[in-house]
Amino acid sequence: MSKPKIDAGERRSALDEVIADMIAVDGPMPVDRYMALALGHEAHGYYMGRDPFGRAGDFITAPEVSQMFGELIGIWCAAGWQMMDAPAEWNLIELGPGRGTLLADLVRACSVMPGLRDGMKVHLVEMSPALKTMQAETFKRAGIEATWHERLEDVPDGQSLIIANEFFDALPVSQLQKQSGHWHERVVGLNCENKLVFGLASDAVAPALVPSWAAGAADGEIVEFSPARDAVAREVGRRITQDMGAALIVDYGHTRSAVGDTLQAIRKHQFGDVLAQPGEADITSHVDFEALASAVTADGAKPYGPVTQGDFLIKMGLKEREEMLRARADARQRIRLSKGAQRLVSGNQMGQLFKVLAVTHPDMPKPAPFNVEAT
Ligand SMILES: C[S@@+](CC[C@H](N)C(=O)[O-])C[C@H]1O[C@@H](n2cnc3c(N)ncnc32)[C@H](O)[C@@H]1O
Repeated sequence: MSKPKIDAGERRSALDEVIADMIAVDGPMPVDRYMALALGHEAHGYYMGRDPFGRAGDFITAPEVSQMFGELIGIWCAAGWQMMDAPAEWNLIELGPGRGTLLADLVRACSVMPGLRDGMKVHLVEMSPALKTMQAETFKRAGIEATWHERLEDVPDGQSLIIANEFFDALPVSQLQKQSGHWHERVVGLNCENKLVFGLASDAVAPALVPSWAAGAADGEIVEFSPARDAVAREVGRRITQDMGAALIVDYGHTRSAVGDTLQAIRKHQFGDVLAQPGEADITSHVDFEALASAVTADGAKPYGPVTQGDFLIKMGLKEREEMLRARADARQRIRLSKGAQRLVSGNQMGQLFKVLAVTHPDMPKPAPFNVEAT
């Protein structure tokens, strides 16, 4: 994906000033620290005070594209609940619920399963005060009671289904760059005009820190890894292995670990310079699904996939669901439904780049749609 270097000359953001001051005092900061501040700084972090979704915002996510996305994940959850032997009490956990749209659609769809909702406890992991308020409004309208937590570790133990859509891409990533045969951590520093610029830490990192798959990389190559993602993925795996359960992780990224700089900034639906306006743009990086699967299965959970989002949704019955909704829709709604379905599954939109990884307790049967052979 091309990343135009734009935004030069735009006004500095409030957070840009804060980060520049930190660097002036403490020296250059690693890329993961920069990303964590850009998204989660208490006062000026991108997610902390705004609704970033939709046409008026910066980007759109699958649940905001079409209700069918959340509904099909709801069907997946209904099957998952049965595979856990229909527990009387269980946790439905969502990581990074955005506006709450996915969860509301999911709960509506899985509620058709008799008994499922009786002992369901909804737990949300969310850092944004602004989005927590929006989520609470969405759930009030949908008649859903929920409890919010800062971290997955704070959610009570118990049998759980865990859902995450476009959550892991927002967790900070570290970068190393190879220079003269040695790997150095990529950092954010200041140039002589006091502007944020990328640089490299002067000391080479210990060889043990370099992922083994990067051994043959050429000078100038960048590798990414994310202790923050690994830690959450390990906690997901620990919970479902210890207590029984399953997880469904959807995000954009690559199936195999590979070299490359995937850090990106999106503002008003356009790619921009990652350092231009911290706090004003969404900064993410592609998810390395090989690393994610390895972390989430560290305690023995079983992985399925990743498969493409297009493949997942079609096998879960997207076409059939669209037909059902079309049958009772007016002409405008029908257009919206088919445009939404198209956007979710087509290869040049969300269908190919987005991947779906399922993880289950090792004793659970293979979950749908991973038990369906390709036709
Ligand atoms: C790109 S949005 C995805 C929202 C939603 N899942 C959807 O598909 O519409 C990322 C979500 O993760 C939350 N988030 C990002 N980093 C987080 C963190 N470190 N801890 C908790 N929530 C976080 C954001 O506030 C937001 O709700």
